[in-house]
Amino acid sequence: MSETITKIKIGAVGDIEDGEALVVDAEQTGTGEPIAVFHDEGEYFALNDRCSHGEASLADGWIEGGQVECPLHSGKFCLRTGSVLSMPATEDVAAHKVEVEGDEIWLYPGQAAAQ
Ligand code: FES
Repeated sequence: MSETITKIKIGAVGDIEDGEALVVDAEQTGTGEPIAVFHDEGEYFALNDRCSHGEASLADGWIEGGQVECPLHSGKFCLRTGSVLSMPATEDVAAHKVEVEGDEIWLYPGQAAAQ
């Protein structure tokens, strides 16, 4: 049986400014969690939006150099893998696949991000 691939159109390249992020609601992602799509210097990444340390939206954090810094206590995560990079966060967040097809950005919720 073939697996159904679910993907969500996020918008066009240019819709998310460099250093900004856009949040896809949990109802839309189908994963039970909101997912943030980040733009960092021409590359796009997606992580679960909720910080693993507390009730903060990573989309509101500081995005730079392949990392996002949580706006609440400054824990840092790798945008590519979701790996935690600094305290006080100690648990990784899930990373999801994002692709740019033509000039459109697509999110694949629940699919592993390319490492
Ligand atoms: Fe993100 Fe504390 S809530 S580091």
